[in-house]
Amino acid sequence: MQELADGTITVEIQDRIQILRLNRPDKKNALLVAMYQALVDAMKAAEADDAVRAVIITGSEECFTSGNDVMDFMTAPPSDDSSPVAQFLAILPAFTKPLIAAVEGNAIGIGTTLLLHCDLVYAGNASKFRMPFVNLGLCPEAASSYLLPAIMGTTRASELLLLGEVFTADKAKEYGIINEITDAGAALDAALKAATTLAKQPPAALRLSKSLIRRGSAQAIAEAMKVEGQEFMARLVSPEAAEAFSAFAERREPNFDAFS
Ligand code: COA
Repeated sequence: MQELADGTITVEIQDRIQILRLNRPDKKNALLVAMYQALVDAMKAAEADDAVRAVIITGSEECFTSGNDVMDFMTAPPSDDSSPVAQFLAILPAFTKPLIAAVEGNAIGIGTTLLLHCDLVYAGNASKFRMPFVNLGLCPEAASSYLLPAIMGTTRASELLLLGEVFTADKAKEYGIINEITDAGAALDAALKAATTLAKQPPAALRLSKSLIRRGSAQAIAEAMKVEGQEFMARLVSPEAAEAFSAFAERREPNFDAFS
């Protein structure tokens, strides 16, 4: 098993399945720059390793991830495509091997949008999802402004993105974000079972089929990521975002009354 020195990302390979674990429980697995970099490095290694047939991304038993670390948004906002978060977003749709997510607890921000790029998603019945980009003075990312309307229709996508409220595993399944709801604590087992099946499939046929399934949306995803990325980086240093981030740090409700 490889680990990021501080253990916030662990990488394990068992039975030809690479398991990436988000592991910063004291901060609800909020993602730091170094964690994105570790994920990118591990996924590149998985892509290059013929012995890896499938990748699972998971969190801890109580939380998948609370999304990007809000303090990092304030102190180290990404400013170009070379940033680790941009590289992570780029590798998600480019990844050629099966990518499976196992979710327990909160999946917030990129914790929800990364699921849109997974081939299979299993979530415990107590999982909670949320995309509070507007609430934070930001805008959708990870091509979610394209993928959500494509998966569920504009009406439902607007509900999830504009209100930015918490939603349940039932709604996530109904809206097409996840494949299956498991008992609480059983999402990883379900993901491992699926990954074990996929690891036995003929790999070239699997890769080809994955790319064919995604061929029709590949260009639109790339275009959405480009446009969103530029807007998102500008929003990160906007006065609206500054108010939202300060409110988070001060544990108070943000107030956007003064903005036009
Ligand atoms: N960035 C930075 N710190 C975060 C974080 C994030 N995304 N999410 C949680 N934390 C920190 C909290 O500040 C707190 O730190 P502290 O113990 O030093 O005060 C710790 O993690 C525990 O979080 P807390 O809010 O007390 O736990 P909770 O169970 O009441 O709520 C969440 C969990 C995930 C619902 C809540 O923390 C939350 O909404 N986080 C922000 C999510 C967010 O806006 N992400 C960005 C999306 S773009």
